[in-house]
Amino acid sequence: MTTILQINSAARSQGAQSTLLVNELTERLQQSNPGATVVKRNLQAEPLPHLDDAVLGAFFTPAEQRTPEQQAIAARSEALIAELQAADIIVIGAPMYNFGVSSQLKTYFDWIARAGITFRYTANGPEGLVAGKKVFIVSARGGKYQGTPHDSQTPYLKSFLGFLGMTDVSFIYAEGLNMGPEAASAALAGAREAIATA
Ligand SMILES: Cc1cc2nc3c(=O)[nH]c(=O)nc-3n(C[C@H](O)[C@H](O)[C@H](O)COP(=O)(O)O)c2cc1C
Repeated sequence: MTTILQINSAARSQGAQSTLLVNELTERLQQSNPGATVVKRNLQAEPLPHLDDAVLGAFFTPAEQRTPEQQAIAARSEALIAELQAADIIVIGAPMYNFGVSSQLKTYFDWIARAGITFRYTANGPEGLVAGKKVFIVSARGGKYQGTPHDSQTPYLKSFLGFLGMTDVSFIYAEGLNMGPEAASAALAGAREAIATA
């Protein structure tokens, strides 16, 4: 049975275009994968703490030496990783904020990138341990940057996900959302066209 993990990373709880479109993409994937289980991770509703002394201390302390607080932090990270590993298809709603991903998504990445668990270094270099996933990114943007040097989001997402072993990544863009009503409706129509064939 197929499991779809939908990750919402918009900062807004209401009216976020990336959330709207990623919901539509999940519905579309449910149609093409009948009976699929959908798991939703809403990073705005359930925020993760930024990396700090406590979080990094937990990650880098050997399991048998962790304090109860460190055990709880490590267990939270490992539950997120188990959720990711259980998914066959991962759909990420990724707004562009200040030329990058939201701090919610960056922090989620910080919690799932764990040496020896989701990646490891070998004599041949790094090896991602999250294999066999199909990933879709729905990127919502106020301006238009796809294919230009200002699109720092797309290469970053490809690099990070590829580092963990997720190399089959497709992007759906809704660009120009803040460039007037016509541009916004064209952006949504273009994204919906891509969703329909996903
Ligand atoms: C804090 C903030 C920063 C933004 N920075 C950018 C940006 O760097 N480039 C851009 O094209 N749009 C930018 N925008 C516009 C958003 O990408 C646009 O509103 C998009 O719809 C955000 O996705 P969301 O609706 O899912 O939150 C920004 C919006 C906000 C609120």
